Amino acid sequence: MGRSHRHEFDAVIVGSGGAGLYAALEASRVRGNRTAVISKLLPIRSHTGAAQGGIGAALGNLEEDQPQWHAFDTVKGGDYLVDQQAASILADDAVQAVYDLERRGLPFSRIEDGKIDQRRFGGHTRNFGEAAVRRSCYAADRTGHMILQTLYQQCIKNEVAFFDEFHLIDILFEGRKCTGVVALELATGDIHVIHAKAVLIATGGFGRMYRTTSNAYANTGDGLAVLLRRGVPLEDMEFFQFHPTGIRGMGILITEGVRGEGGILRNRAGDRFMERYAPTLLDLAPRDMVARAMTMEIQAGRGILGDPAVDDYLYLDATHLGREVLEKKLPDIADFCRTYLSLDPAENAIPVQPTAHYGMGGIPTDLDGRVVATGSGGLYEGLYAAGECACVSVHGANRLGTNSLVDLIVFGRRAGRHMADFVRQADFGAIPDDALAMQDVLARANKKPHDAHAEKIRTSMKTIMMDKVGIYRTGKALDEAVQELRGLRHEVAEVGVGDTSRSYNNDLLELLELQNLLDLSLITAASAAQRQESRGAHAREDFSERDDDAYLHHTLTWLDGGSVRFGKKSVDLSIWEPKPRVY
Ligand code: FUM
Repeated sequence: MGRSHRHEFDAVIVGSGGAGLYAALEASRVRGNRTAVISKLLPIRSHTGAAQGGIGAALGNLEEDQPQWHAFDTVKGGDYLVDQQAASILADDAVQAVYDLERRGLPFSRIEDGKIDQRRFGGHTRNFGEAAVRRSCYAADRTGHMILQTLYQQCIKNEVAFFDEFHLIDILFEGRKCTGVVALELATGDIHVIHAKAVLIATGGFGRMYRTTSNAYANTGDGLAVLLRRGVPLEDMEFFQFHPTGIRGMGILITEGVRGEGGILRNRAGDRFMERYAPTLLDLAPRDMVARAMTMEIQAGRGILGDPAVDDYLYLDATHLGREVLEKKLPDIADFCRTYLSLDPAENAIPVQPTAHYGMGGIPTDLDGRVVATGSGGLYEGLYAAGECACVSVHGANRLGTNSLVDLIVFGRRAGRHMADFVRQADFGAIPDDALAMQDVLARANKKPHDAHAEKIRTSMKTIMMDKVGIYRTGKALDEAVQELRGLRHEVAEVGVGDTSRSYNNDLLELLELQNLLDLSLITAASAAQRQESRGAHAREDFSERDDDAYLHHTLTWLDGGSVRFGKKSVDLSIWEPKPRVY
């Protein structure tokens, strides 16, 4: 490979989605703090841009709302695996975070008196579950894009240094102290060692392990996988959310905002089938329930094709909303329908299927984003995580729509603030002797003979995850998945990279990403196999009930060589007692 370079910054953030940019903004507000962001993409192309429908905050602009109702909905939506103080912070801080974004220039959609408009979203209710409430603050269906634009501009103003198109390959430690990162510069093939007092991981999700997903190609879980290989545990990885409305056969997201504006899910008879599954919230029940209801309709032969043996689908009907509402409030969705489906959503229902969307689990953190090392709460020094790759845990077993944006704004901001204070009093640790170990791996990969195996392994991984670690799961299928994924991890170690070019060697990048996804797939499948209950997005056909006596705890997982080791972490139940979920 190419040359190696050294840099030094006080605070380094890996990932330039909403969490990473907000943390960078906070870290760089302290005079003298040298702050850098490393990103595989150009920042405004980060996957936060795919969060279309809004950010939940109890502003109460159109009807009464309260942060404690938001916190309760979050806990109940997460099937009581949510840490309750974290949920309260999420809901309380969301209000100020939205006003901060507004002040920084985010162009929210507005009502006539000039206040921020709010729409309904799944699982968000007034007065502890009475009825749906308007809580999602939105900028048409481009909320995530607007967050990225707003925060990126502010970071530029604060003179944050951006390393665009740099891929994370290692994180450096001196014992439990994080001392920097190593990244591959995609344009040159050069290696960069970045010495830092504190590092924050905000590399987003890992939905590309599934065949049908709303996730961008870049969502390969790089930060989680690198930490896992460095001995850091991951939390609650068995919980992966399927968003009910992906475009049929493509997985591209059709925002829940369509149902928030009144869109209705229908089966082949035209029935509003959610009346049978969630009589109060209907189409705006939490996503895990809606995705399961859709699967059951299809299995019962009530999908549009009427045949569960084929890749069947259902309709999202927005025709009654009218062209004006669609073009004004959901313009990107109207465009997607025209571009990908050649249909006009004002005239025709949209064919949809559940699509792999969001990992509730991730790198365990405390309330300030500091990474947790053990089930009893020991911490790493100078290591932070925020956003989808982190698990604080505010989503528990199932995340409510809009809460991903709330999570990354609230906890990205908190982690950035903590990091800013930390680096003022911290020293630089030592760069370990094996800092360039990954460079050898890259060099070896480049010398191996080319074969076309990587694509075959990638396809097998996605099929296994979709068929055996999907919406409904069984112990038998999960055990098979674990064995098969172990086999694929062995196979991928032998794959070579035929392309020897240094500049934009995509074969090499995709191989590194595939290795990351395989490690995370194994952890996801193994975590799902050991949890013998159904909770939130983890639905076991062989253990169909929630079992609070045996499983009301977070799962911690370590990857020791090829085997997965498990631990437990307690759930903070300090506010609400767990109850059955009824919507
Ligand atoms: O449906 C959506 O707009 C997605 C938002 C989210 O995942 O929170």
